[in-house]
Amino acid sequence: MAQQTIRGFRDILPPQSNVFYAIEKAAREVFSLYNYDELRIPALEYYDLFLKSTGETTDIVQKEMYRFKDASQRDIALRPEGTPGVARAYINNNLSQTGKNSKYFYIADMFRAERPQAGRYRQFEQIGAENIGAESPYSDAESVSMLYEILKKLGIENFVLEINSLGCSECRKKYREELLSYLKGKEGLCEWCKERMEKNPLRTLDCKVDADKFVDFPKISLCESCSKHHEEFKKALSISGVKYVENPRMVRGLDYYSRTVFEFKNTSIGAQDAIAGGGRYDNLIKSMGGPDAPSVGWAMGVDRVAILLEKKWSDFVSNPLAFIVSMDKELSEYAFEILCDLRKNLIPCDFSDFSRSFKSQLRSADKSMAAFAVIIGKDEANAKEVTLKDLKSKEQKRVKKEELVRTLSVHF
Ligand code: HAM
Repeated sequence: MAQQTIRGFRDILPPQSNVFYAIEKAAREVFSLYNYDELRIPALEYYDLFLKSTGETTDIVQKEMYRFKDASQRDIALRPEGTPGVARAYINNNLSQTGKNSKYFYIADMFRAERPQAGRYRQFEQIGAENIGAESPYSDAESVSMLYEILKKLGIENFVLEINSLGCSECRKKYREELLSYLKGKEGLCEWCKERMEKNPLRTLDCKVDADKFVDFPKISLCESCSKHHEEFKKALSISGVKYVENPRMVRGLDYYSRTVFEFKNTSIGAQDAIAGGGRYDNLIKSMGGPDAPSVGWAMGVDRVAILLEKKWSDFVSNPLAFIVSMDKELSEYAFEILCDLRKNLIPCDFSDFSRSFKSQLRSADKSMAAFAVIIGKDEANAKEVTLKDLKSKEQKRVKKEELVRTLSVHF
């Protein structure tokens, strides 16, 4: 028996791997339209980076990090999310000095030791986008509409976009007190809420167990500037043609957010309904020792988007057009020459193993879902021809070697 994979880690096989590629491709096309550049960041960072950015009170830092000491006793962690690494890269590489927009995307695996379930893995792929150094609500709307475009491009329709504003640190300071006294008046809260209440009362609004107890929770009252930002953001979303609903209870599970937060949700993948989420983080870069750079971004869970597309997985598979079958081992060289020639002419084709029986090779041709088998027997080789067999209609005809590319191109 081969080794098993570690719990929560998995192999992604075709056709699902084709779907991942299609999602990445669609995202890259939209990023290009929005003038976002790719940033590749390391999978391993110092643990401290996440502690100070993702946040001390978050579930991620408290219990989900893959944290370990390496051989040199450095305290390091596998990245659980991309934003801290991007922020660090922005500061370390002086990207504020380039004079260009700092709009970056990343496509990378993340690691969180959460309890595995449908749509929740310990290694999962995120496609993320960060716009660093942009303060206006139009940047929030641009960021959200970019994500919206990616989902639309993939033909995903059954999602809702929920938005909220968490205000600035001043709004939140007041809200924190208000919320705390409201929570203190509640009886029978779960252990999680009791623990969260003092450290980060906003997070209790996220609690699935006590959800019903919080129907009358006080809403945040935004200061004039945050309120204006939120109104302009909503107007800009409407201009972009993006539909949204407001969810005053959405707080997001990461510590760095201020003002705009948003989530794209779907109900068909069970409890793990968030397919993407993000928001504004105006103080993060500065708090990490960088310049004052208000920012906004999001990350999408590729594994979850792939689940949404499950019924269409076969649409993402590209089959070879032709499959070369040699009737005799002696004819392998001629058959291989044909194969190389087709590929040089950009005709997608394949073969199995010329040393196998004719029957077995034909079976492989059928299994490959190729449109045509290119059959090579002694007669064909002597006449510098091939037999072209339509694998659906079963019709076949002889074609001259030099005519093969042209004949197949008609179908490609
Ligand atoms: P997040 O909400 O923690 O945000 O993750 C974003 C998305 O990653 C989720 O909506 C979900 O689709 C996917 N995801 C998270 N955990 C898992 C998991 N265990 N298995 C499968 N998919 C998962 C962030 O990570 C922020 N960095 C987003 C951001 C960027 N905010 C500003 N900029």
